[in-house]
Amino acid sequence: MDESKSHIFWHQPKITQKERRILQQHRSCVIWLTGLSASGKSTLANELNKYLHNQSVRSYVLDGDNVRLGLNRDLGFTPEDRKENIRRIGEVSRLFVDAGLITITAFISPYLEDRNLVRSMFPQDDFIEVFVKCSIEECERRDPKGLYKKARTDQIKEFTGVSAPYEISKNPELVIETDKQSVENSVLQLVGYLKTHGYL
Ligand code: PPS
Repeated sequence: MDESKSHIFWHQPKITQKERRILQQHRSCVIWLTGLSASGKSTLANELNKYLHNQSVRSYVLDGDNVRLGLNRDLGFTPEDRKENIRRIGEVSRLFVDAGLITITAFISPYLEDRNLVRSMFPQDDFIEVFVKCSIEECERRDPKGLYKKARTDQIKEFTGVSAPYEISKNPELVIETDKQSVENSVLQLVGYLKTHGYL
């Protein structure tokens, strides 16, 4: 440990996550949406958030573009910067889950090692990895921000799926195929998972 950290001590909170849970009907967790750009992460995150809000369940969305405009504005898209991006989001999510929120994150998070690092920050039941699966052809057809076009003409470097990798997990808790079903059905699939596993 570096010298400056040796004078920092963990303060045990007086109210625990378990005690906070007594006051609420739901069980807080992080729903970690991962997948290619334009696969539908943000759409699903926001639709699920709306559903939960309408059910009076406290939830919050952390979204790639938004976080990169604020907290992580100093980070780019090298493997090292993506790692730090995901690590910080993991830490923020941990605080939100501890505070009792269903936390929905929408980050490409392309590296297995980085997703597993975040997973290791949580008790097993608090972390739900959701692979938002969509073929690169369909993502490129959607291209809502024109980024694939730019990546193909080398105007954007290290673009996931084009010039940077996306590593698929073997055992995510859930796979949602957004090129095979409607947004409504994808949200129902997520809600179904939360209900059958006791989060709602
Ligand atoms: S990561 O890989 O998890 O750190 O990325 P994330 O924080 O989710 O940010 C992805 C959004 O940034 C835009 N963008 C890029 N994505 C991938 N590769 C490169 N090189 C890149 N440059 C900019 C893009 O809008 C991503 O948003 P989504 O919503 O995924 O399309």
